[in-house]
Amino acid sequence: MAEEKMNTEAVMMDRTLELDLARVTEVAAINSAKWLGRGDKNAADQATVTGMRGMFETVDIDGVVVIGEGEKDEAPMLYIGEQIGIASEDSVAVDIAVDPLDGTTSTAKGIAGAISVIALAPRGRLFHTKNFYMEKIAVGPKAKGSIDLNKPLAENLRNVAEALDKKVEDLTVTILERDRHKDIIEQCRKLGCRIKLFRDGDVAEAIATCFDDSGVDVLVGIGGAPEGVLAAAALKCLGGEMQARLYAHTSDEIAKAQKDPHYYDLLTIDDLAAGDDVLFVATGVSDGELLKGVRFMADNKVSTETVIMRSASGTLRFIQAIHDMNKKPATGII
Ligand code: FBP
Repeated sequence: MAEEKMNTEAVMMDRTLELDLARVTEVAAINSAKWLGRGDKNAADQATVTGMRGMFETVDIDGVVVIGEGEKDEAPMLYIGEQIGIASEDSVAVDIAVDPLDGTTSTAKGIAGAISVIALAPRGRLFHTKNFYMEKIAVGPKAKGSIDLNKPLAENLRNVAEALDKKVEDLTVTILERDRHKDIIEQCRKLGCRIKLFRDGDVAEAIATCFDDSGVDVLVGIGGAPEGVLAAAALKCLGGEMQARLYAHTSDEIAKAQKDPHYYDLLTIDDLAAGDDVLFVATGVSDGELLKGVRFMADNKVSTETVIMRSASGTLRFIQAIHDMNKKPATGII
């Protein structure tokens, strides 16, 4: 594992935290959705971050952001290392991973699949990285144990197909549509697999591999490293499996990779999200296959759909909420 060893002592988070976190992503999603299709991804991102950061101020946690909006000097809120929450004596110390808006471009263009996401685990259990990209492979529970990023792609896909009791030709591989994936798309086609290309949002696509009716079996390719940690947290809750490896993209990362013999170490799901108590919460911004997007209705009411997952219990909750914006506290809502 490339970064420091993680803490795996048995510490459990309060169950009621789930609902508090749902409130945080709900507000973030509502703020993003106000910018749907308006062509301004920076404004959408800023509104989302402000909403998420404001609502975190109402949550009783002793949190520190380990996956966030970047370094302090480039992000005024939700930066890596920022202390979050109203810590009381009884608060459990937690790591927080956020992607306030996974799908900034999708939101700006009014395209499906944008979500607002948080993962939480007791302190020291989420992978810390400032890296831009990660190479990823993710599968659902039935294919757990069949992936190995150290093996060639074709071997992985054959093993996943076998675990799912499918022909390789019936396997659907989901891949971010990027030029850098030409080679893996070619390899999948040669093998005869079906392919689903998607424009943005690989957290939701990784999650989709865990749902039988999603139509996708395995996610492969290079995507955001922060999104990799968030997806691993979700797959931990859903009983799926994910492996990753840092991908050096910037000149600083390439220089770091040349000096660090562990830079390209394989990262298992336990390296990315360790322990038995991981929480994952996401609210839909624009309509997606996992979650409905925000709806603005008559009488200043707004509806949201949120999913909450917890690895300790394995419970998966979908919450549909109708918010009366006339009665909302000012916190975070802009
Ligand atoms: P943003 O919302 O930050 O733009 O991320 C969207 C996304 O599609 C992620 O889901 C994915 O991991 C990443 O971008 C891929 O990065 P890139 O667009 O640089 O290929």
